Amino acid sequence: MIALAKAATEEEMRTAADYYASLKPKPWLRIVETDTVPTTFVGPGNMRFATTDGKKEPIGQRIIELPEDAEKAELRDGHSGFVAWVPTGSIAKGEELATTGGDHVVNGKIVKGKTVACGICHGPQLKGLGNVPALAGRSPIYLVRQLYDFKHGARTGKEIALMVPVVVGLTQDDMLNLAAYISSRTP
Ligand code: HEC
Repeated sequence: MIALAKAATEEEMRTAADYYASLKPKPWLRIVETDTVPTTFVGPGNMRFATTDGKKEPIGQRIIELPEDAEKAELRDGHSGFVAWVPTGSIAKGEELATTGGDHVVNGKIVKGKTVACGICHGPQLKGLGNVPALAGRSPIYLVRQLYDFKHGARTGKEIALMVPVVVGLTQDDMLNLAAYISSRTP
C-alpha cells in the first residue's frame, strides 16, 4: 500500500477520492444478538471463519464477525457480506449511551454521563456531518478498535481532540455496546 500511495500523483489521488466519495453506502453487515456463537479460527487472509464441525461456545463479552459465505469471502467477493454476532442486550445498552452520553436525572437534577451523545458531531443518524466521519453500519470490530485507540493514544492526528473526552471514561464493555448499536444502524 505504501509503494502504491507513493507512486500516485496529486491528481490521481483526487480522482480516486472523488470516485469513492460518489459511492452510496449500502448495508454490508447483519448485526445479530446471541448468547452462543460458532467456534471459530483465524484462517486465510487473516479472516475469522467458523469451524465446520457445527460446534458452539458462549459469546461472552466479544463481537464475532463472520462471512455470510466463507468461500466467497475467501475469494474476496465484493457482494458477499458479513454477519456480526454481538452479546444479547448490547444494542439497547449502546443505544442508551450513544443517544444520551449517559446523562441522567437524580433528584430532579441532570447528572453528566460518562460520555457525550455521538449524534451531536456525527449527525443525528450517525451518517456523518461535515468532516466528522459517518459511523452507522460500519464494522463493530473496526469501531471498537478506533475507540480503544483514541483512548490509549494509538490513534493520533490533529482531529482526535474532539474524541478524547468522548472515550476517556469508557470501559471496554461500553465500547462493545456502542459498537453493537452503531453498526446495527442503516449506513
Ligand atoms: C464533539 C464532537 C464528537 C462527539 C460528541 C463524538 N465524536 Fe466521534 N469523532 C469526532 C471527530 C472530529 C472524529 C474524527 C477524528 C479523526 O479524524 O481522527 C471522530 C471519529 C470517530 C470515530 C472514528 C471513525 C473512523 O472513520 O475511523 C469513531 C469510531 C467515533 N468517532 C465514535 C464516536 C462515538 C461512539 C461517539 C459517542 C459516544 C462519538 N464518536 C462522539 C467527533 C466527535
